[in-house]
Amino acid sequence: MTKTWKTNSAEETIQCGRDIGKALRPGARLGLVGDLGSGKTVLVKGIALGLGVRDRNEVRSPTFVILHVYDGKVPLHHVDLYRLEPNVDLTEIGLDDYLTDPEAIAVVEWADRVPNILAGSDVRIDLAITGETKREIRMNTGAR
Ligand SMILES: Nc1ncnc2c1ncn2[C@@H]1O[C@H](COP(=O)(O)OP(=O)(O)O)[C@@H](O)[C@H]1O
Ligand SMILES: [Mg+2]
Repeated sequence: MTKTWKTNSAEETIQCGRDIGKALRPGARLGLVGDLGSGKTVLVKGIALGLGVRDRNEVRSPTFVILHVYDGKVPLHHVDLYRLEPNVDLTEIGLDDYLTDPEAIAVVEWADRVPNILAGSDVRIDLAITGETKREIRMNTGAR
């Protein structure tokens, strides 16, 4: 199933993420695909809020640390593959456990950098920049 949102501000994208987050079940993995600045991290902020993470400022790009873990009603594992080598061995660097935890939700920015991750995701979300403050967000469920 595909669902599309057109947002006109970061705040609207957060709201969109919030709605997505509320509907997620433990064990879900979401792959986010989109250029730099397309709103992946902003969307994750919304997803975290939808999962009951209290402090939205806690949600920042994990680009430099690869992984953040947030404590919501369901734990949220926020992964950013931007700085990893393409096709890196995820088991070797210890990321695999965070991506396959049945009791958490994993959201992966730049999921297309590691094809296996995208292939193993339940949900794929593509984000596109359509204007200075406009974004198109397309969610595909049942990708797997
Ligand atoms: N409609 C919108 N949705 C999301 N972000 C937007 C929107 N309009 C402007 N922005 C801005 O675009 C930037 C998106 O950044 P970020 O979420 O970090 O992108 P990414 O993680 O995809 O690289 C933020 O500075 C945000 O304020
Ligand atoms: Mg980001």
